[in-house]
Amino acid sequence: MLRNKSRTFQRGIRPSRKDLFNVHSSPQLAAGYSGKVRDKSILLGVTGGVAAYKIVDLIRRLKDEGASVTVIMTEASKNFITPLSLEVASHNKVYSGLFDTPMAHITLTAEADIMVIAPATANIISKFARGIADDLLSTCLLSFNKKVVIAPAMNWRMYENPILQENLRHLISRGVIQVGPEKGSLACGEEGMGRMSEISEIIEVIRSALSKKDLVKEKILVTAGPTREYLDPVRFISNRSSGKMGYAIARAAIRRGAEVTLISGPSLLSQPEGVKFVSVETTVDMLNAVNRELPSTTVLIMSAAVSDFTPAKRAREKIEKSGDLLLRLSRTPDIISEVRKKKDRPFIIGFAAETGNKVRRAKEKLKEKNMDMIIFNDVTEAGSGFDVDTNRVVIIEREKEIRLPLMSKDYVAEAILDRLSELRRIDG
Ligand code: C5P
Repeated sequence: MLRNKSRTFQRGIRPSRKDLFNVHSSPQLAAGYSGKVRDKSILLGVTGGVAAYKIVDLIRRLKDEGASVTVIMTEASKNFITPLSLEVASHNKVYSGLFDTPMAHITLTAEADIMVIAPATANIISKFARGIADDLLSTCLLSFNKKVVIAPAMNWRMYENPILQENLRHLISRGVIQVGPEKGSLACGEEGMGRMSEISEIIEVIRSALSKKDLVKEKILVTAGPTREYLDPVRFISNRSSGKMGYAIARAAIRRGAEVTLISGPSLLSQPEGVKFVSVETTVDMLNAVNRELPSTTVLIMSAAVSDFTPAKRAREKIEKSGDLLLRLSRTPDIISEVRKKKDRPFIIGFAAETGNKVRRAKEKLKEKNMDMIIFNDVTEAGSGFDVDTNRVVIIEREKEIRLPLMSKDYVAEAILDRLSELRRIDG
């Protein structure tokens, strides 16, 4: 974690101006930024729905994130998937019978950080809601006192049945977290509400349930993606930004309890659940959207790759091709500079996507634009920058510099928010 004041430098990386900055770097840092799933112990209940076959993928992906998964199967679930498949996927013994392993209903729950039921049938939901303990899974649910996530999956008539709905409401009122179901084609051949949520959605809810809620007081405005500057109605100047870094920050901030507005330039990514989403195209659109959201914002994270230039004139009609075209560009308004002039300005985090190891240039930008933090990355480095899922960044503050190893953008987002949270606590 960043709080670990490790002074071990990564091999090959040296602080450029040691006298000015405190450099904290550790390859082990990556381990702490898993969206809080890493090293967690997940007790996964699998019940008798057709969606049970998808659970191998859920287990595999949770294990990829560093979680340990122990599976409890109901008897009915074995009609849809074998215990062996789940044992192989989880690398753990699979439990099922209440009396197979003495005291399993106590030891398994004592060791777990979270219980997840996927797919959750009407039967397990209703037993859980009423406190019935007649098999290992339902007994574990009663002896467990931490967070429980359920992913219902069933026929739409069963799902809409008022008895089931009442039982779900009862569980939710007691803190159980429900994910899904979704509308779609069901195993029975009918269409309706009852499909188990996508595995990625279930994982996001598990991450959120395990995440600390240290940003509940913050209203965070994140900008992401590229902007487009039009020459004429069909052509524009843009850049290679995919929006992945900004979207990862928005998702992580939501998990940590913040109220999040995401202002995004054109991006192929899907809108993160729970954010207020504002779609923009040009730099001026983005500036206007930021200005509109600013009064309620406590933290502005400008991860958008905002265009620095725009065609000086935008032709009303498509420009005809006849010979060479000389394009005159003018500067776009600098959004951060506009924001920093405001009274009650928010905490400002900017990004410096540079070509080459220009950390010094990023530090200058931090001062020039009067930001509180700037995130440097070298977009020419393999695995870093545009359109990839990983990034190697340096978190730069006025008097400190934190070099992080190459990590997934989700981990980088957690690292930035860890530091933000720490600074906001210090500032009171
Ligand atoms: O000076 P430079 O453009 O490299 O600074 C990058 C930071 O400034 C990024 O956080 C980017 O989102 C922000 N930016 C801005 N307005 C612009 C261009 C960049 O706020 N017109």
